[in-house]
Amino acid sequence: METTRVEQGEKLVFDRKSGNCLACHAIGLGTMSGNLAPPLFAMKERFPNPQKLTQQISNSLLSNEDSIMPPFGLHGLLNEDQISKIVDYLYTL
Ligand code: HEC
Repeated sequence: METTRVEQGEKLVFDRKSGNCLACHAIGLGTMSGNLAPPLFAMKERFPNPQKLTQQISNSLLSNEDSIMPPFGLHGLLNEDQISKIVDYLYTL
């Protein structure tokens, strides 16, 4: 069955073995999940520049060298295509 990029991105965000973003982030407002990090919501308004959003996921250390968020791209935890799908999904929040 064909899935859209947004659906694949959502899967990566929720998958404990890949993104596991929920370990630290709440998604939208209300989902039960981590609260070590800012909730991910209204992404289009808050991150109008997709490059900035991509950079935060790929290498969080560029904006905060003490970040506890794993630099997913830098460490090869997620590839470019996966990160781009996650960005597509985050823009639906
Ligand atoms: C180990 C905890 C942790 C994990 C796992 C994690 N993050 Fe983060 N994230 C953070 C923290 C802490 C911040 C706050 C800024 C900083 O310190 O870098 C952050 C910031 C962000 C921001 C900026 C939010 C804002 O409002 O400024 C985005 C977007 C983001 N993370 C996306 C993700 C995505 C997508 C994933 C999964 C692929 C993820 N994070 C996984 C801890 C985490």
